[in-house]
Amino acid sequence: MTYPRVRKAVFPVAGLGTRFLPATKSMAKEMLTVLDRPLIQHAVDEAARAGIEQFIFVNGRGKHAIDDHFDFAFELERTLESRGKAAELGRSREMVPAPGNVISVRQQQPLGLGHAVWCARHAVGDEPFAVFLPDDLVMGSNPCIGQLIALYEQTGGNVVAVQDVPREHTNRYGVLDVGRDDGRVAEVIGLVEKPEPEVAPSTLTIIGRYILLPEIFDHLQNQKPAAGNEIQLTDAMAQMIGQAAFHGLRFTGTRFDCGTKLGFLQANLAYGLRDPDVSVELRAFAKSELQTRG
Ligand code: UTP
Repeated sequence: MTYPRVRKAVFPVAGLGTRFLPATKSMAKEMLTVLDRPLIQHAVDEAARAGIEQFIFVNGRGKHAIDDHFDFAFELERTLESRGKAAELGRSREMVPAPGNVISVRQQQPLGLGHAVWCARHAVGDEPFAVFLPDDLVMGSNPCIGQLIALYEQTGGNVVAVQDVPREHTNRYGVLDVGRDDGRVAEVIGLVEKPEPEVAPSTLTIIGRYILLPEIFDHLQNQKPAAGNEIQLTDAMAQMIGQAAFHGLRFTGTRFDCGTKLGFLQANLAYGLRDPDVSVELRAFAKSELQTRG
């Protein structure tokens, strides 16, 4: 059976980023850089590598920098050109998608991730689509979203990226109740948002990559605010269980939660240690820091 192709990705970037204050006071958390590019560009690059063609940003107030980042920077680029800085010019222009392929919609109030995704409904239309939470950065040679799309092409339905976490952390995530499970692909028979460890149905949790069917918008439309007084994506997804195939995929790659200080620093270290321009000196610096600080 063939399923409609996944061509569009939604990037909800309207959150307040309170865990990363004061860095996020006047700047979107998705513009924080890991190595040499902002988180949002890591996410868009991953989408493009997996064949996604249209990029839909759900922006909040004061997030113009994200739209501008995916546009030409006329003054900067003219200056670089006049100074003969071809490599730098290339780097500035490399992330500009084809005209018309970036769509920005506004979430006027931060009413939750589910509400942010719902704000993209007209831009998505009646087709399956990807969702990226850009503060979840996944490092690996095989784009995480591409792995989800490959599974979707076999199974259809909703597909979410999952990973096992220590039981004491289940109250930070959406957690799966698992049916059939071959160790890589798990059938989703239930979903609970941020359950306490003692009641969590498993330790398999959703991270910020999803393939969703457009029917999710009908469920989001009727969703009432729940945990944290926000409209939760997990609750709307849970209502689709039994109506369509639904799987969790243990992806290959390393995920960093860049919405927290620790995850953000780990990501920078991991990317830095793999970067040919800085790895040797960074390694030496890290070693000497560890020796001095124990
Ligand atoms: P988070 O749960 O990380 O929330 O949202 P947050 O507000 O950004 O950060 P904290 O918890 O206050 O530190 C996950 C994703 O959903 C987006 C965020 O931008 C992030 O990409 N989001 C969240 C929205 O777009 N709108 C919302 O109302 C809430």
